[in-house]
Amino acid sequence: MKIVVLGAGGLLGRHLIEELRRPSSREVGIEVRGLPRAECNIADAIEVRARTAGADVIVNCAAFTNVDGAEKDEDGAYRANALGAENVARAATAHRARLVHISTDFVFDGAQPEPYDEFARPNPQSVYARSKWAGEELAQKRCAELFVVRVQGLYGDGGANFSSKLRQLVLDGKTLKLDGERRVQPTWARSAARQIALLLATDSYGLYHVSCKGETTWAGFTRRLAEKLAAPTKWTVVRSDELLAPAQRPPNCVFQHRMLALHDLDCMPTWEEAQDEYLVEQGSTR
Ligand SMILES: NC(=O)c1ccc[n+]([C@@H]2O[C@H](COP(=O)([O-])OP(=O)(O)OC[C@H]3O[C@@H](n4cnc5c(N)ncnc54)[C@H](OP(=O)(O)O)[C@@H]3O)[C@@H](O)[C@H]2O)c1
Repeated sequence: MKIVVLGAGGLLGRHLIEELRRPSSREVGIEVRGLPRAECNIADAIEVRARTAGADVIVNCAAFTNVDGAEKDEDGAYRANALGAENVARAATAHRARLVHISTDFVFDGAQPEPYDEFARPNPQSVYARSKWAGEELAQKRCAELFVVRVQGLYGDGGANFSSKLRQLVLDGKTLKLDGERRVQPTWARSAARQIALLLATDSYGLYHVSCKGETTWAGFTRRLAEKLAAPTKWTVVRSDELLAPAQRPPNCVFQHRMLALHDLDCMPTWEEAQDEYLVEQGSTR
């Protein structure tokens, strides 16, 4: 089975490639090609079709992920997240490859108190969220053998986002301002990658919510991180609106993993279990 991963230079793309390249995958004949942006720009339909030729599975981890930046660059966000998603879906159909398209919890407005399952109605509230929702719809229109995987709160080694940098910021004793209000499920990129690797080997196509179990806030996640690292803690816990972010975020991002349960495919840990494993991998528990 030949798997092509687009957005291979990003946080999830790198973790997924590592997961798929484990010796056990090679033993069952899995061959993985990672294409970073420089080798395949998803906004270029011709390039996408040419670079994905011969794939049995395409995983689209490429996206315009700067949530606040998207408010000022709507065209940039839609070019990658909507048209790019459509280009990849068309290529998958042309090559008769199955497609894994990655999306986001931000498609929801976060107003309901209960966790969101895959059958809840999206109501995106930012440019990034609307462009990602458009990408889901376009991918669904263009490709039948499709997994849409919504992830959230990703962190991991080498990630450029704030949650990936938290461990080092805590170790450096930096003073942090942390959201104590938004309900989130911080998800180690390796846990999400394992779940995606499991899913793509099946033909149980559909829409899936993939996140670590349980719930916390980013302040709660950081408090536990600091305890585990026995690092001096310096932070202020604030309300979401005090962070003055240009893009609106959903106050409740908690997923219910109904589709994983229905297909008996759930291998996600709790956020605490994943955090522990992440810290062990980073060689930094005390
Ligand atoms: N991180 C999270 O917490 C989170 C939450 C919910 C959903 N997601 C979704 O998860 C997926 C993976 O995100 P991530 O966390 O791995 O983000 P990331 O680290 O920012 O990776 C995204 C990658 O896509 C690349 N890219 C951007 N535009 C591209 C284009 N036109 N063609 C090809 N590649 C392009 C980026 O390259 P450059 O760096 O060169 O721009 C980057 O390497 C995305 O679909 C994202 O929307 C992430």
